[in-house]
Amino acid sequence: MKTLNTNPTMSAVVHDHYGPLNQLRVREIPIPTIAAGQILVRVHAASLHAGDCMCVKGSPGIVRIATGLFRPKNRVPGFDVAGVVDAVGKDVTHFQPGDQVFGTCEGACADYAVVEEDRLALKPTTLSLQEAAAVPTSGLAALHGLRDAGQLLPGQDILINGAAGGVGHFAVQIAKSYGARVTGVCSAGNADMVLGLGADQVLDYHTQDFAADGARFDVIFDNVENRDLADCRAALKERGTYIANSGTGATGLRFLVRLFKPLLLSPFIRQTLKRYVSITTRRDLECLKDLIDAGKLRPVIGNTFTLAEVPDALALIDTGHSRGKSIINLKTPGPQVE
Ligand SMILES: NC(=O)c1ccc[n+]([C@@H]2O[C@H](COP(=O)([O-])OP(=O)(O)OC[C@H]3O[C@@H](n4cnc5c(N)ncnc54)[C@H](OP(=O)(O)O)[C@@H]3O)[C@@H](O)[C@H]2O)c1
Repeated sequence: MKTLNTNPTMSAVVHDHYGPLNQLRVREIPIPTIAAGQILVRVHAASLHAGDCMCVKGSPGIVRIATGLFRPKNRVPGFDVAGVVDAVGKDVTHFQPGDQVFGTCEGACADYAVVEEDRLALKPTTLSLQEAAAVPTSGLAALHGLRDAGQLLPGQDILINGAAGGVGHFAVQIAKSYGARVTGVCSAGNADMVLGLGADQVLDYHTQDFAADGARFDVIFDNVENRDLADCRAALKERGTYIANSGTGATGLRFLVRLFKPLLLSPFIRQTLKRYVSITTRRDLECLKDLIDAGKLRPVIGNTFTLAEVPDALALIDTGHSRGKSIINLKTPGPQVE
């Protein structure tokens, strides 16, 4: 164990209880200590996503199995981090102080964050640290959804529901890099952005219904789950794959039905219905880094916030209408907002 004595406290966004997003406050708390296999990162930027809202609110209740039944085990939100290695624990072999890195942790909305060695990678050389912070969770969710769950192949037709959001905008680009034909579903205001990321066509969900226009897809990657499973299956080819990636289209008992119905039904039909859990590995962070540095993938920064504005950032994400990624910039100058 290593304790830093030179600067024992840091600014962090903190919540002591589950509750509304506006309960979060910036406080001075001790700089965390690192154990073997861990790295202390001086945070330059964090990014947030729907999972952060769930962890702060403790809702839906199922998340508390992981985050603490009655109180949050981790009081500082933020899973996605980019910054500079400040110190390394015993047995760390891949990183040294001064390295510019990105990855996932618990507690990114703070001046310092502790990251496990296998959840960290050197940042893409073509991105700033602020841009790199936007990539990990959403980029990995898109990679794991398309490469692993969807096993997407060149020439296949894929529909991405929620194509303008954090996961969706990465999925559009990854699907194109695999040689698929991409249809993105988003609102009209985001159509240019999604086309600009490479989608072959976009459907405005206010005026067009992907389940009713007769098109059939090899893969549907559903980041919204606002439609009945039967509607989604109607837009899927006979042996197509539906990847459910939200479960947020319902609440209460209907949430559980929504969660498990595709998995229970899948063994009895020709179509494949799947859920998956995206887990960070250094290898896959490096896979994203390679795509980024090859010019095939880039994050869209929809909004930039300060540490004190984390409640505003989460409130925006909670609307379900984020554009690209929202980042928390702990250093200046910030990146260009698109
Ligand atoms: N499987 C995993 O391990 C894993 C990992 C990470 C995330 N996730 C899940 O992935 C889901 C998506 O996350 P995210 O970060 O991408 O969310 P997000 O950034 O909040 O994006 C939501 C997007 O959905 C779009 N949208 C809203 N209503 C829509 C509708 N009726 N039809 C089509 N699009 C609509 C919005 O577009 P407009 O603004 O244009 O309306 C927005 O761009 C979440 O449920 C999250 O929990 C799963």
